[in-house]
Amino acid sequence: MSITTEVELEGMRAVSEAVGLALKQMRDFARPGMTTRELDEYGGELLRQFGARSAPKLTYGFPGWTCISLNHQIAHGIPSEKTVLQEGDLVNIDVSAELDGFWADNGGSFVLGRDIHGHAALVDASRQILREALALIRDSQRIAHVGRFIESEARKRGYTVIRNLVGHGVGRSLHEPPGSIPCFYDRFLRTRFRENSVVAVETFISTGARYAEETPDGWTLATGDGSFVAQHEHTILVTGGEPQILTAANGIWEA
Ligand code: CO
Ligand code: CO
Repeated sequence: MSITTEVELEGMRAVSEAVGLALKQMRDFARPGMTTRELDEYGGELLRQFGARSAPKLTYGFPGWTCISLNHQIAHGIPSEKTVLQEGDLVNIDVSAELDGFWADNGGSFVLGRDIHGHAALVDASRQILREALALIRDSQRIAHVGRFIESEARKRGYTVIRNLVGHGVGRSLHEPPGSIPCFYDRFLRTRFRENSVVAVETFISTGARYAEETPDGWTLATGDGSFVAQHEHTILVTGGEPQILTAANGIWEA
């Protein structure tokens, strides 16, 4: 959406803070031995307390309040009473919601407990690259330029990026124009970031895979080759200078 009134800005701030705090508190709540269903029920309760409604449930009928993806899973992992969190897991939580007609989206990967499988470098790379990519976003910047930056920063560190999952406009629904904010260089993409528009920008940094593959449950997307992916996502307001990070409450820079 493009923000034209103070009421719209306040609405976007409120929903963004709700999804940001829900993500942060879920990350702090996660413990080895807990099922992803328990973690999701906690997240669902937080959203209810904020007066917000789960966006993937509302939009797609997703079977959970939030998406929780472990290890080789990349996105849209279904919370389950059969999936138990383990020490050292690569965990991704993605929380998106609607509040008073406004929608926001954010996510982050982290290592649960001690990093016994050595995922920390991948997580740090994704987080740092998102931070640097957001600093490039301002009015008139080409969306393709930011994708090229993310891809080249990943490559410098020995990583690839996922090509079939992308950021997107957000605000009056979960996915809006611009429909594609890729984290790779698409030279045919002519769109530009525009002042006052609200977008969700996300990294998908991979130790090998270039595409997210569908799995038999019909929702979860995973690597098909045993590689790992870290994602970080913020909803931001584009300005003439540095963007306003609306979901800053999620604390993913520190996590
Ligand atoms: Co998301
Ligand atoms: Co998103």
